[in-house]
Amino acid sequence: MKKVKGTINPKREISKINKEIYGHFSEHLGRCIYGGIFVGEDSEIPNTKGMRNDVVAALKEMQIPVLRWPGGCFADEYHWKDGIGPLADRKRMINTHWGGVLEDNSFGTHEFFELCDQLGCEPYINGNLGSGSVREMSEWIEYMTFDGESPMSKLREANGRKEPWKLKYFGVGNENWGCGGNMTPEYYGNEYRRYQTYCRNYGDNKLYKIACGPNGDDYDWTDKLMNLIKDQQADAISLHYYTVTHDWDHKGSATEFTEEEYYETISKTLYIEPMIERHLAVMDKHDPEHKVKLVVDEWGTWHDVEEGTNPGFLYQQNTMRDAIVAALNLNIFNRHSDRISMANIAQVVNVLQAVILTEGAKILKTPTYHVFEMFKGHQEAKLVDCYFDVEKKECKGKEIPVISSSASVNDKGEMTITLANPLLTEDVEVNADILGDYCDVTGKILIADVGAYNTFENPDKVAPKEYDGFKLEYGTLSGNIPPCSVVTLVLN
Ligand code: AHR
Repeated sequence: MKKVKGTINPKREISKINKEIYGHFSEHLGRCIYGGIFVGEDSEIPNTKGMRNDVVAALKEMQIPVLRWPGGCFADEYHWKDGIGPLADRKRMINTHWGGVLEDNSFGTHEFFELCDQLGCEPYINGNLGSGSVREMSEWIEYMTFDGESPMSKLREANGRKEPWKLKYFGVGNENWGCGGNMTPEYYGNEYRRYQTYCRNYGDNKLYKIACGPNGDDYDWTDKLMNLIKDQQADAISLHYYTVTHDWDHKGSATEFTEEEYYETISKTLYIEPMIERHLAVMDKHDPEHKVKLVVDEWGTWHDVEEGTNPGFLYQQNTMRDAIVAALNLNIFNRHSDRISMANIAQVVNVLQAVILTEGAKILKTPTYHVFEMFKGHQEAKLVDCYFDVEKKECKGKEIPVISSSASVNDKGEMTITLANPLLTEDVEVNADILGDYCDVTGKILIADVGAYNTFENPDKVAPKEYDGFKLEYGTLSGNIPPCSVVTLVLN
């Protein structure tokens, strides 16, 4: 049993936790869009305008705040005009990047906005800088947001939509250091300046422009990019970091892993925190006023694909290990919410660390889904001072902090505390002084064997339950976090 002491001061508000930190990502990749979200109006799977009702309902329940689309690597190969107009006239082509399967463009701009409407979430569109043109990007924004008479607004109207849509988040290219054109930071930085010039704000639509930031710990990219865009031409730069247990050639199984491999995953995922801090320090050099934010728009575990599935579909199972990874990352993002304006786990359905898996008409919520659901109280709340005297424990050669935590207070004064114990064999007893007027605590816990996962036959094997392992007496919150568990406490 480990003992941890701490203090939570709800009166010391640090920053707002943008709801977008709980964001998601959907790419034309494998069964994410096609089959996972969009089945078409003629499908036997219950749908509304082609969107699966079950998936939409589950994502709404989890309070999905923002959805990124159409990629990923697919974004820099996507030509938006292929995906508008009558279905029969849309181009049929091969998705060369992901699995070499048919892309019939039946899900395009109109369908994406319809999906976001049904979900009640913000759209985040990633433009094509790698293989597109300035004109193509500029016309896409005109098509989506221009509110007067123009060639693109007339085309939109001819395709059935008179009113412009509201679009805030716009990515100017994706991974342009890799699949988005193999560019140098200097080349991309200059291209970014040129492309973004023509990404216009029409009417009262104000774009939040996101430049392609670094790949993991490539601080040189951040430095050179920030040097070129520091004069406020970008609202944010992106960061992509995947948790890969071994290496890119042999990532490791999603479900079969040893204790050593588990702690390797945990230590790799925790590396994101010093990485974020170092990128922020580099950004500070160019932008001391912190006008440019960080958007972690691809993160999560990347395991080997499930046996028998198309290697280009990136379909993987999701265990309690992934749930711990999600909790650690979300607590880290919360704690850096003064500088991180958005984060998007990869990807929302059927791809990588998905929150939902589907098979035909069947659906299941993964352990990662439950973590997002348990953390939703943080959305738009104020991060407050939450300090624990956390020691690290040596676990199979890795130094692992014994708990992860963050706390926030919403506008009703309710406090949400999220805690995770990443140790596999030891309980952690928590004692925290609560410097505020709270007298009641309720809890929820997600706990299971580290390798446990949900299947279509047993979809609720890993699911949260009520937890009364904490009490709040005379200003002290005390209780136990069992090994390999995630706990949410709500204080009133
Ligand atoms: O999420 C899968 C892929 O990972 C994305 O398409 C790309 O941006 C990243 O390399």
